[in-house]
Order: sequence, then C-alpha cells, then structure tokens
Amino acid sequence: MAQEQLGVCAEANIHGLYLLFNANDGREAFIRGVLSQLPALFDELGERFSEAMLTGMVCIGANYWDELYPDNRPALLKPFPAMSHGGYDMPGVPYDILVQVRSDRADVNHLMGLQIAALFANSVDLVDQLKGFRYLDGRDLTGFVEGTKNPRGMKKHKVALVGDEDPGFSGGSYIHIQRYRHNLRRWESLDVLEQEKVIGRTKIKNQEFAESKKPPCCHIKRADLKDEKGQPMEILRQSMPYGHLKLQGLFFMSCCKTPEYFEKILRSMIKGDEHRNSDALLNFTEAETGAAFFAPSRTFLQNNK
Ligand code: HEM
Repeated sequence: MAQEQLGVCAEANIHGLYLLFNANDGREAFIRGVLSQLPALFDELGERFSEAMLTGMVCIGANYWDELYPDNRPALLKPFPAMSHGGYDMPGVPYDILVQVRSDRADVNHLMGLQIAALFANSVDLVDQLKGFRYLDGRDLTGFVEGTKNPRGMKKHKVALVGDEDPGFSGGSYIHIQRYRHNLRRWESLDVLEQEKVIGRTKIKNQEFAESKKPPCCHIKRADLKDEKGQPMEILRQSMPYGHLKLQGLFFMSCCKTPEYFEKILRSMIKGDEHRNSDALLNFTEAETGAAFFAPSRTFLQNNK
C-alpha cells in the first residue's frame, strides 16, 4: 500500500497550525512541485526537533483537485455537503489547499509554517490561518473530553485510509473541516447535568450514559451511526480547540476512507431522527466554515509532480 501522510493517523499533539490557501491561476505545475516536497520537509524538521513530535499533511480541495491533477481523481471526492435545517446552517466555504501542522512546540509549528509559505512563494494566497491547542486533558472548550471514541492504534488506518477499493488513491484520506464558534456564555448558563444531557457523557469522569438514559438529541446519539449491515460508520476525528477570549471554538477535522460517513453524521446532527430531534449541541456552537479535501498519499504526491 502507498505510504500515507503522517498527519492523518497521528496521535494528538499540544499545538496545531492550520493554513488555508487559494491557488493562483496558471501555477499548477509549480504547486505540484511544492506539494511533492512537503512530506520531506516535515521529516527534516521532525528530525531536527525530534522531541516536538512534528507531523502534518497537505490536503487538496475538492473544487481544486481537477485543476491540479487533471488526469485522475479520487473516486468519491465531492464538494462539502453544505446543508441548512431548522435554523441550523452548515455552510460550505471552499479552499484550494489546506496544510495541517501539529507538534508539541508552537515555535516549531511557526517555523514550519514560515518554510511552507516560503516554498509556495507567490503561487498561492493565504486566506485563513488558525492556531489550535490542547485544552486541559484533551477537552473541547465546553469542558468535555473530545476524541474518546476515536479509533486507536492500527484501527485508525482502517478507518481513515482508502484501501484497495480505489487503487490509485490508496493511503489517501477524505478530509472534512468545519470551524465551529462556541457560544460559551450560553453553554455555561447550563448546569453540569444539563450539559451532560447535551453530550450524552458525564463531564468530569467522561463516562458514557447508559443507552436508556441518552436523550435522543444528545450529541453522541446523533453522531454514533451504523450502516445497513449494522457496522459502525466510523470517522477519525483530528479536531482541536482554537481561539482567544473573545472568539473560540473547535476546529473540527474528520479523516475517513469515504466521505459518506461524515456527510451522514452531519445530516443526522442537523436533521435529527425521525422525530426531528436535532443535535442539542448545535444550540451552543455555530459552524462558520466547511470544506472538503483529499489528503493523497506521500507516494501519490511524489509520483505526480
Ligand atoms: C463543535 C462541534 C463539536 C463538538 C464540541 C464535539 C464534541 C464531542 C464530544 C465531547 C464527544 C464525546 C467524546 C468522544 O467520543 O469524542 C463527541 C463524540 C463524537 N463526535 Fe463530536 N463534536 C462536535 C462536532 C462533531 C461533528 C461535526 C461530527 C461529525 C460530523 C462529530 C462526530 C462525533 C462522533 C462520531 C463522536 C463519537 C460518538 C460515539 O460513538 O459515542 N462531532 N463529540
């Protein structure tokens, strides 16, 4: 199997840097050359600052893919499934390229960001950038541990990476991002038990509610889906809290072997079950962006300069 980019299945880090670019017309060949060099740049700085556990990945926007690699496209790649329902919005805001940089040192991330920007030179415009951070013991800013039910160890690869079903793109991953902005004042007006009913887990001890105690609108009820064969539709979440005291939330990121699971979970959150029980979490946070990408394998980037 082709070698995946390290950032897809990496363990969580303390600091994240997300760089969102739009490409300038006519620079495709140059950009392909830059992208083919990025995994080696991660290796080089990763070795120089080995204690920082640097990883990262480059992801190509669904709307930009055909311009950059006109000869072949991942079988299931499609634009972000923007949706609106019952007063909730999941907007799509396309970007051409996303570079995710994560490590345990903010300075190393910054250095990496500078080197990436220098390599791209004026072939792209940096349209958005965001710094993520680990909050307490891996919690979202709502105070709840985030990522508990993520697949672990080698299972991450099975969940996140395309396999032999699309041989030209094996080792790649379908990526979705959403920048959620929390309304913490409203969230903190709830007492802890009310908050726990929104998530479906206890806050401090992070224990899952018994099935019979989970409200139909709680987040984990809406997000834990099975396919028609009863198999879980699992995604690997690589999200991080971001922001400052005036504006803060979760930079949500899903990595998966198919884009379908993210879309189905998002629909389940916003549209709810047959009784229209939408995800109660959406009353306390708002998706401001949403974009779909494919993170090709290192091998693909190398072979398609
Ligand atoms: C602001 C936005 C979000 C916040 C704060 C949030 C937070 C959480 C928390 C605290 C948990 C429970 C612990 C865990 O297993 O990680 C969780 C579970 C989960 N979330 Fe989210 N989440 C958000 C958005 C999303 C979105 C957009 C999706 C996918 C479309 C999603 C998918 C999941 C899944 C699959 C689980 C595991 C459910 C289970 O099997 O128990 N989340 N989330």
